[in-house]
Amino acid sequence: MKKGKLRNNRDLIREAEKVLVGGVDSPVRAFRSVGDDPIPIKRGLGSQIYDYDGKSYVDYVLSYGAAVLGHAHPYVVNRLNRASLEGFSFGATCAEEVELADLIKKSIPLIEKIRFVNSGTEAVMGAVRLARGHTGRDKILKFTNAYHGHADYFLARGGSGLATLNIPTSRGVPKDFFTHTIITDYGDPKAIGSIFKRYRSKIAAVIVEPVGGNYGVIPPDINFLKKLRQITRQHGSLLIFDEVITGFRLHYGSAAAIFGVRPDIICLGKIIGGGLPIGAFAGSGEIMNQLAPEGSVYQASTFGGNPLVMTAGTATLTKLHSLKKDYNLLTDRVSDICETMEYEAGRKGVALKVNRFKTMFSIRFAKRRQFGSFYRRLLSLGVYLAPSEYESNFISFVHTRDDVEKTKRALGRALGS
Ligand SMILES: Cc1ncc(COP(=O)(O)O)c(C=O)c1O
Repeated sequence: MKKGKLRNNRDLIREAEKVLVGGVDSPVRAFRSVGDDPIPIKRGLGSQIYDYDGKSYVDYVLSYGAAVLGHAHPYVVNRLNRASLEGFSFGATCAEEVELADLIKKSIPLIEKIRFVNSGTEAVMGAVRLARGHTGRDKILKFTNAYHGHADYFLARGGSGLATLNIPTSRGVPKDFFTHTIITDYGDPKAIGSIFKRYRSKIAAVIVEPVGGNYGVIPPDINFLKKLRQITRQHGSLLIFDEVITGFRLHYGSAAAIFGVRPDIICLGKIIGGGLPIGAFAGSGEIMNQLAPEGSVYQASTFGGNPLVMTAGTATLTKLHSLKKDYNLLTDRVSDICETMEYEAGRKGVALKVNRFKTMFSIRFAKRRQFGSFYRRLLSLGVYLAPSEYESNFISFVHTRDDVEKTKRALGRALGS
């Protein structure tokens, strides 16, 4: 099918279904839980995205949190345009890699060395392997409803698409692969105590999203994060913060710094690539130098540190740095949206819970089937949220007061009378 023929949403999705599984390349993009076809997106500018019917939406998905400067920010576009004239990929170290690593290091002081990869999944896989290599232990503790990408040994009791599509454990993963995965509920210090008592010196690392972003927004329990730090240190295990969402999302730097908890390894992704595919894991020189070629923990990739991705990331962080005092403004805008939602729901007698933390928010209806009709109405009113109650929504630096007012009006109307 020629691209010119795919002029509207319906035609494109029908054609997509013939060649892509479910018409999508990631299950979270399917609109199964809202009972509709996915909306294909043709282009984005600032806070707006445009579908193939020519309809525009205020975008709160923002490429699942990556587009913190909105879409096609002119500063990033200019830098990318210039960089693209120099070639796309060489499989060799480049200045842009060093520049981005330096920017990240300066803003997250616990980092001495970093490795760039191509996705958050790869970042977490690298971090876990590194933790195992460093400690000589096998077991990894993760939390129910967290999502750390799609590595085999984490595809159980997870959030994100696993929760949306009700897949408790992915088929295709041998049972044995979960032998070294320990899963417990977030926020239960007693359970952590007994797990460490039971496994003692077998736990290589605890991995945690410092703010839960994959079962809706789960605000942090700072005492629990501190407990994780204390108990991992006591038992010689590492603490991994999965900041694929939270890195540069809550302020200019890591969530770790906000909560005063210093993990051993930090995973990044999304924002640091400015909307191009990226992941990174980082930590002290002592730990990171276990990686090949310095050490014998093997990790490699053809495209890691790709010059175009590094350029988009560097441009994004440079711009973000100049805007860093405005993160509070973004938080205020999210609060405004969430308070309106709560007020309108109360007024209309709709039972729901709005969760938020700084620049992230999510909405969960007491009756699950209510989300679908609410969501579809919201779409028709030009507001694009994540098509699942288990995903987080985000705001960018280019969402305007007008966008927020339009969103508030739409929320009220979408809840019905
Ligand atoms: C906390 C967290 N970790 C890891 C990942 C995996 O990242 P990616 O989809 O880039 O592989 C995600 C994806 O949303 C995430 O939210």
